Amino acid sequence: MPQLPANGLRALSLYSGGGGLDLSFERAGYEHVASYEILGHAAETLARNRPNWKVFGSEAGDVKGVDWTSWKGKVDVLHGGPPCQPFSNAGRQEGHLDPRDCWPATAAAIKAVQPNAFIAENVPALAGTKFSSYVQEIILTPLTAGRPRYHVRQFILEARDFGIPQVRRRVFFVGFKTKRAAEAFEVPEPTHAWNEPTSNLLPTMSLREALGLPKDNRYVEGLSPTIRSGLTGPRHTTSVNNSASSARTWASMGVWPNGVAVDRTAASGFPPDSGAFRMSVADVALIQGFPESWTWPRAVYQAVGQIGNAVPPPLGWRVARAVAAALKA
Ligand SMILES: C[S@@+](CC[C@H](N)C(=O)[O-])C[C@H]1O[C@@H](n2cnc3c(N)ncnc32)[C@H](O)[C@@H]1O
Repeated sequence: MPQLPANGLRALSLYSGGGGLDLSFERAGYEHVASYEILGHAAETLARNRPNWKVFGSEAGDVKGVDWTSWKGKVDVLHGGPPCQPFSNAGRQEGHLDPRDCWPATAAAIKAVQPNAFIAENVPALAGTKFSSYVQEIILTPLTAGRPRYHVRQFILEARDFGIPQVRRRVFFVGFKTKRAAEAFEVPEPTHAWNEPTSNLLPTMSLREALGLPKDNRYVEGLSPTIRSGLTGPRHTTSVNNSASSARTWASMGVWPNGVAVDRTAASGFPPDSGAFRMSVADVALIQGFPESWTWPRAVYQAVGQIGNAVPPPLGWRVARAVAAALKA
């Protein structure tokens, strides 16, 4: 995910979390105009890593309470991943009945800011039949009618197809003000392939390789299960495991998804009784595609929560680049 030269486009970030999509856009050459994030500790991660960014955190970062008119005409691309708990298979899937649902606020922000394009990301369950009328009524109808009227594309991407050593599917909604840009937009094509020796694409590395573990029979080759969006369940967890079946997959690969340690020294000093490899925050960030230079809070539950919620930056980078190319076509 190399840093691309400035592309002259301004990006506004909503629901910024610990900065996955923000980093994608920065590396794709966009100018960062501001981030809005309700969780103070996540906003602090952004401010600490990028002291020159304008970051609105806590109450000032609540997307539901912002008057967006001051941003009108000053943003080329608005991006964000509204909270996924109302739709996630891991939750009750109550959609608009869940008070954490932020899609109406997202659509309202887009209509008020009037960017040339937007990117909104979420769990793939939102693209399933259960939420098809929700998507139509709450997302598509408001955005594709009235002024401005967006031409919206919807697609699912797999993180492993972009070199991330993790099974992680996400749905993207990408909208353009002009039909021309919408028609020029190309959904990013896979750059990597997992376990396909005859493929012409680059090989996606295994979890073992990503963690730098030796090649022996303790560590079966495989991909990390989806890193849990840790701020969705009990708050103070230091686990990145998201289900019983994922726990079996982690165990089969000789890696312990619980008790993530603050750093590698602490992780190696206290291995679990099973003898499996204990991960540190830096390891989890690596599996999510973050550069090592991006720093995290000392409180592990905050760090793994922010990492687990993130769009893997190299995946977001592909989408950010594709949107820039369409806007410039
Ligand atoms: C799925 S995460 C976004 C992750 C981010 N896109 C990334 O790539 O790192 C959703 C974020 O929305 C934040 N959030 C929830 N409700 C919010 C609100 N009303 N206003 C602003 N942020 C909110 C959560 O704290 C969480 O960090």
